[in-house]
Amino acid sequence: ENGHSTGEVLLSIEDGIAWVTLNRPHKRNAINPGIVREMVDVIDRLEMDDDAKVVVITGAGEAFSAGQDLKEYFREIDQGHPMVKERLYRANSAWQWRRLMYYPKPTIAMVNGWCFGGGYGPLFACDLAFAADEANFGLSEINWGILPGGGASKVAAELLSFRRAMYHAMMGENIDGRTAAEWGLVNEALPRAALKERVRAVARVLLEKNPV
Ligand code: ACO
Repeated sequence: ENGHSTGEVLLSIEDGIAWVTLNRPHKRNAINPGIVREMVDVIDRLEMDDDAKVVVITGAGEAFSAGQDLKEYFREIDQGHPMVKERLYRANSAWQWRRLMYYPKPTIAMVNGWCFGGGYGPLFACDLAFAADEANFGLSEINWGILPGGGASKVAAELLSFRRAMYHAMMGENIDGRTAAEWGLVNEALPRAALKERVRAVARVLLEKNPV
């Protein structure tokens, strides 16, 4: 057990697969300081856990993640000590980018529903990504007249064609899972009811290949 878990991230390990669930469904799994701390811990812990051979990241309820928590990650932190903010941002990029991107075990993003802004970090950093047809992906910032956060912009630029990335960032329209698959944001989209079984099947193939 980790020392300061608040249950905002759930972990269950079954048959070699670690299911990591962002667990603030009432806030659409918006990434707050609690999720940041717990994800750093979980990712560290799973690295050393021989029972966890493939890591799947998903969200509880209707969302994968509604992005960074606008209140707890931005507004409240902006009012505090600048170094507290610096440390929080550093921890967030550690789990979303540096750690996941270079993780020694295979990782899969299972996008069950809403995926916005900061949710694009783990989406990109995972080796593979599968989405529900019903999922919705969006870069909403333009609707407030600002550019998407640096991380989310980079994800669009890396994964999409230049024209699609620009359209996605400039229009503020959401795309569903099928369009996300067509555009290359995820590997595949399939009905939500079939998503977990497909991800489990992919994870089993990876297990057989001993990719660690
Ligand atoms: N930050 C903080 N709280 C959030 C966020 C967020 N990113 N997203 C949702 N919530 C909260 C809402 O404030 C609401 O809280 P409340 O019940 O206490 O009022 C709760 O989650 C549910 O949200 P609703 O909007 O009521 O849920 P709905 O299912 O109708 O819509 C949706 C879901 C589409 C995800 C909507 O919540 C939304 O658009 N969220 C913002 C997404 C966004 O723009 N993210 C980018 C953030 S910036 C960045 O990541 C860099």
